[in-house]
Amino acid sequence: MPTLSERDNQIIWHPYTQMKTAASPLPIVKGEGAYLIDEDGRRYIDAVASWWVNLHGHGHPYIADKIHEQLMTLEHVIFAGFTHPPAVTIAERLQKHLPDNQARVFFSDNGSTAVEIGIKMARQYFFNQGIRRSKLIAFDEAFHGETFGAMAASGDHNFFRAFQDDLFEVWRIPAPVDEAKSQEALAKLEAHLKTGEVYAFIFEPLVLGAGGMLMYTPEILDQLIALCHRYDVLCIADEVMTGFGRTGTTFASNQLKEQPDIMAMSKGLTGGTLPLSITTCSAKIFDAFWSDDKMKAFFHGHSYTANPVGCAAALASLDLLEGDACQADIRRIMDRHAAFAEKLKGHATLKRVQQTGTILAIEFKTAEGTSYFNQLRDKLYFFFLDRDILLRPLGNVIYILPPYCMTDEQLDLVYGAIEDCLTMVIAEVGAV
Ligand SMILES: Cc1ncc(COP(=O)(O)O)c(C=O)c1O
Repeated sequence: MPTLSERDNQIIWHPYTQMKTAASPLPIVKGEGAYLIDEDGRRYIDAVASWWVNLHGHGHPYIADKIHEQLMTLEHVIFAGFTHPPAVTIAERLQKHLPDNQARVFFSDNGSTAVEIGIKMARQYFFNQGIRRSKLIAFDEAFHGETFGAMAASGDHNFFRAFQDDLFEVWRIPAPVDEAKSQEALAKLEAHLKTGEVYAFIFEPLVLGAGGMLMYTPEILDQLIALCHRYDVLCIADEVMTGFGRTGTTFASNQLKEQPDIMAMSKGLTGGTLPLSITTCSAKIFDAFWSDDKMKAFFHGHSYTANPVGCAAALASLDLLEGDACQADIRRIMDRHAAFAEKLKGHATLKRVQQTGTILAIEFKTAEGTSYFNQLRDKLYFFFLDRDILLRPLGNVIYILPPYCMTDEQLDLVYGAIEDCLTMVIAEVGAV
């Protein structure tokens, strides 16, 4: 009998994987709390929350029950011309966590489309008013997803070279990760805004995820947003990764004084159980589509828009997220990360140790410099996997982005493995 991995190798094409050279995928048959369990019963600590989606642990019985209940009541209905309780309720409940100006909720089913929708809303907002603006601004190191608009908004990650000729032009500013970059970002942003051609600025608030877990302050983001608003340019907060507690608040935007006009969220929305996403916007945006003219409508919708089961999962996950136990876990993880970061600071082989909320990023010094394709990546990945820990390095950057149920003991296992790893890296590449 062929194994699951052997069967997989014959038929499956995996994401972000060079199929010729990659190792066989791990056959995971069960999830339990912070653990992923393979077919031989080996348990891996999921320290990256399965691509940043999982909030409360795998196989959570409360969410599973609510999903089951919804499946037996209404599994799906077209969302054009129809509505249903879970969609309206999740929209109402989420609104309480969003910046005050967010007035309308538009559903889709993954992070890339949530972003795509945000960009389209912003562009059509001006179009519907007869104003021609065609330029989007984004950070150099941004990552916003894999649909064409989201790829265009993303920085040059090498991933998207094949499509470069087809991507619309996006003007860039550096991520404001230090004082010099902040000044440069402000100056470049203002120069772009002065052209009068810009319709929106899109950003990952506080943490640029796939770009290397690059972190920056709410203060500088406030300045960038305020500058955009001075030029009547819309701001789109891509909270696909940062949403639902990752940065310590429900949304990273909750830490801002300024308010984004549009927000995109997905990943943690359902606690990591089902694909669902949301794009929200202010009343001002919605009003530009509100018309007797049918052509001013927003012509966008997916088959599974506002899937009731996904919405029920989102409601169940929000019940847990709002609970005292989960909020205490978020604070506990933040405190533990801070203590561990302090311990690592100044280590000879590290270029950067940085924390925002429950995300801890550690960047290794290497001769190659910072890059997703850094040779250290695979060594790090397998080093941790050998120790039953799933960390998925972004090149020479490792990060912990745990489900909030991860216990102190499990965190200690991850921290301990990272300390061992420092010795391995020095042996492999030396302290640069
Ligand atoms: C900030 C951000 N935006 C958008 C996306 C795309 O989300 P999805 O993979 O669900 O399409 C990602 C995925 O990692 C992301 O990190």
